[in-house]
Amino acid sequence: MPASSHPLHKENWSINDIEINKTPPHIAIIMDGNGRWAKSKKKPRTLGHKAGVESLKNTIKACLDLNIKYLSVYTFSKENWKRPEKETSFLMNLLSLAIKQETKNLIEKNVKVKMIGDIASLDKKTIKTIASIEEKTKTFNNLQLNIMINYGSRQEILHCIQEILKDKNITPESLSEKCIEKHLYTSTIPDPDILIRSGGESRISNFLLWQLSYTELFFIDTLWPDFSEQDLINIVASYQNRHRRFGGL
Ligand code: IPE
Ligand code: IPE
Ligand code: MG
Repeated sequence: MPASSHPLHKENWSINDIEINKTPPHIAIIMDGNGRWAKSKKKPRTLGHKAGVESLKNTIKACLDLNIKYLSVYTFSKENWKRPEKETSFLMNLLSLAIKQETKNLIEKNVKVKMIGDIASLDKKTIKTIASIEEKTKTFNNLQLNIMINYGSRQEILHCIQEILKDKNITPESLSEKCIEKHLYTSTIPDPDILIRSGGESRISNFLLWQLSYTELFFIDTLWPDFSEQDLINIVASYQNRHRRFGGL
């Protein structure tokens, strides 16, 4: 991370600066910048996505070191289907391959994997791979890895409203925030404490619009394949120096 865009006063923090018993339970990441990373190296975008998977593996390890309980990563948005078919099919295959290759490691590390998004609309092979990793890791609790795939927050909210309308026990008077949360894909997951977006853009791009209401936001210039454990440590240390008010004092 270049010093100019650093969210902290201190250049680099060490893991010893972090209060490990008080790390934020939930970190969400918009992993952006794979294409530009590849372009800067005069390589095809696909190489950037491959490097992005390596970066995600390192980040999972770093989250385990930092005692993080939930890691939510945006891997493919509903709007990403606007990209050329060559790239979307590459991304879907890469995701299935990465899941298969990492299954053993995730089981060893006691990581529970949950796939979040419009899963039913994906191709049969991907659905099978997703069901398999979820089943194999469902009892684990060291870290929950939420992989957002074919995900869009507006579509999630639309789906939530459709579910609520189907439930005849819910009346306009009885509808509550809790009831809405119960019908979101993230019903069993606490809201993110930290959102990181790599790649230099300062936008949410249809990610967790309801859930990010009081999340601490970190927009960094680093392109996703270059994101390191040091970057995560810096962000968590910075988070621990922020004061969350939730509208109070
Ligand atoms: C993020 O990297 C990965 C996905 C959206 C699937 P991009 O592919 O968006 O990379 P840039 O933003 O073009 O550099
Ligand atoms: C957001 O990145 C989606 C993912 C990282 C999966 P995009 O690259 O799709 O977002 P925009 O198009 O720059 O808003
Ligand atoms: Mg992008």
